[in-house]
Parts: sequence; structure tokens; C-alpha cells
Amino acid sequence: MRRTAGVWALTAALFGLTEGVRPAAAQATVEKIVGGPYAVNVGPRSATVVWLVQKGEAALGTEPGKMEKSAPILHAESITFGGLRQGATYYYQSFPGDAGKGSFKTPPAGPAQFQFVVYGDTRTRHDVHRTVIEGILKHANPDFVMQTGDLVADGADTSLWPIFFDIERELLRKTAFFSALGNHEANAKNYFDFLDARSHYSFNWGTAHFAVIDSDIENVPGTVAEKDAFWQEQTRWLDADLRDSQNMDLRFVMAHHPPETAVKRRQGENKQMTALEPIFEKYRVSAGFFGHDHNYQHYLKNGVHYFTTGGGGAPLYDVDTPPANITVKVASTENFVIVNVDGKKAHVEARKPDGSLLDAAELGN
Ligand SMILES: [Fe+2]
Repeated sequence: MRRTAGVWALTAALFGLTEGVRPAAAQATVEKIVGGPYAVNVGPRSATVVWLVQKGEAALGTEPGKMEKSAPILHAESITFGGLRQGATYYYQSFPGDAGKGSFKTPPAGPAQFQFVVYGDTRTRHDVHRTVIEGILKHANPDFVMQTGDLVADGADTSLWPIFFDIERELLRKTAFFSALGNHEANAKNYFDFLDARSHYSFNWGTAHFAVIDSDIENVPGTVAEKDAFWQEQTRWLDADLRDSQNMDLRFVMAHHPPETAVKRRQGENKQMTALEPIFEKYRVSAGFFGHDHNYQHYLKNGVHYFTTGGGGAPLYDVDTPPANITVKVASTENFVIVNVDGKKAHVEARKPDGSLLDAAELGN
């Protein structure tokens, strides 16, 4: 542990403070690790391990010397490992001590069995979020996890990220993490910095292809025309990405906003996502995974399964108006989804945090 005078100097410069009115909050300049380690961008040849470091706190008020709020000053430390082998388990030491130890698997090439877990909307009710993570740890053993977005209630609020990573700690140190950008991340730089994230990306794992997109057009910076241009460019990217993955046995898409919903007050809200359905059908997407609605929903429409798994901790929403003809299962409950892939097929199980089965489906030819 070392003290850094620089942080205090920066805080004082920012808020016009002197040593005489130094607020209690700003005195805590001890550097400590408040998140991680976790593995992101895990591919066949490389992976990045990240951990989050707090270097003191900054404070703010409307009168000199009267600090009304404070927030931790955070930055991510990371190391990218290259030259990895496919289908291998790697054990790493990020920072000193047992707390810095973790592991992840690299994707296998070709037919193989593997498991991933999808969950999301972990914001707001931290105790419930914790039960969902404990449920995943107890009832699944994923090669990687996929988070459908809204990790935290406000991506720009640095006080929330250490809470998120504390709750997810034991899960994320033993698997790889992939996420989609939720509206509550608010396109904050923290999300991109802490997760070494991109707005949209794709990857292959064994026989399956995964495309992840940013459905949060509202928080894309710029004018309406610029937001629209972002969506058009991303849609072109998705079209080409799925077209080029036709040799894979399974195709999965993940985004935060669902194209279909049983939440009456939200029906018709995500038109940009509903408009993508013909692309999903054309390129034989096996399943889409979404969040945003805090419940569980499963639809089957023109051969494509749509799963909403937004039951990671955020306040539950009713499933009062299931869409006709396409609804397989809806339930207003916390949940996570386990997908076991075996070559050309995948078995999906939606479970409550206590492990009880909500729904099951078979995907693939
Ligand atoms: Fe959301």
C-alpha cells in the first residue's frame, strides 16, 4: 500500500481546496484493488486480464470546504496475454496474493462440448444480484458468461463499479466475461475502460458464432442523424458478420433491448431491434439473448428463439401481455440461462437463482 500525494493535489486543484479545509473523503488516498481480476476479450490466441484500482476519492460541494458528495477515483490495470493455445485452461496471477489468482479457458476449435451462462440487468438490488451470482456458481460451471447489459444503475458513477465487481468476484475470476452495453451504462467511458469493451463485436467458440451489438441508440453521442448513422453502420456490420458465419453450426446474437416483449407498457418500444428480425431469420440465427426487461421471456418466431434474461437484480417487471402465437414461456422472476453446446446442438435451461428449472429448449439441427 502506498499513499499518493498527487491525488490530493489533483483534488485540491479541481475544487479549489487548501489543506486547511481538506475534507475527510479526500484524505483516503490509499491505493487499493476494488474489482477483479476478470478475463475479457478471450480469444483463441489472446486474452486480457483486468483488475480495478481505487486511488483515493474526489469530493464535490457547492460551498468551499463543504463537500456534499464524493466518489472513488478508479482506473483499470490490465495485461494482455498473447501466444495462447486453443481449447486450453489458463491460470493467472494478476496482482500479488491469492486474491490476484484466476483462470479462464480459451475457445476450442471445431466440435466440442462447452457451456456458457447468460444473465443481465444486475443493477440496483445488490442483495438480489448476489443471489443470482451464487445461483450461477452453484448450478453452472460456464466456460464463459454473457451479460446482457445494465451491469450498474449509472455507468458514470464510479461508486457502483466496485459493488458490481465485489458481487461478481468469485464468478468472474474463474471464467471469461462478455457483455453488451445497456442503457444504464449510459455509454460511459468507465464501461469501455473497465471492461476493455467495444460497442459491437463477434467471436467464435467451438461450433458457435456470437455477435454482440449495442442497441442503446439513445446514448450514442451526437445528433439524431448521427445516432441513425451509427445504427445503420452497425446493422450493415451485423448483416455481414452473420452472412460470413454461415459455415458455423450455431449462431447467437446478444443485445440489451429485446425485439419482443410481454411487458405491455413497453410493447413497440424497441422498433430498431424488431426491425432486425428478418436478418436473424435470413442468416439462421439459433437464438438471440436480450435484457432490459427484468424477468424471463422466451419466444419462438420463424425458427429463431428469443430469450430475455434480465432478472439479475433489477426490480422485476410484470409479464402481463405475452405476444400471441410466439410465446413459449414468460415469468416475472430473477433468472439466469445456461446453454450447453455439444457440436451442432445446444441445450438451453433457464433457472431461478435457487436452481429450479423455469424453461428448457433444444437448439440446432
Ligand atoms: Fe435497460
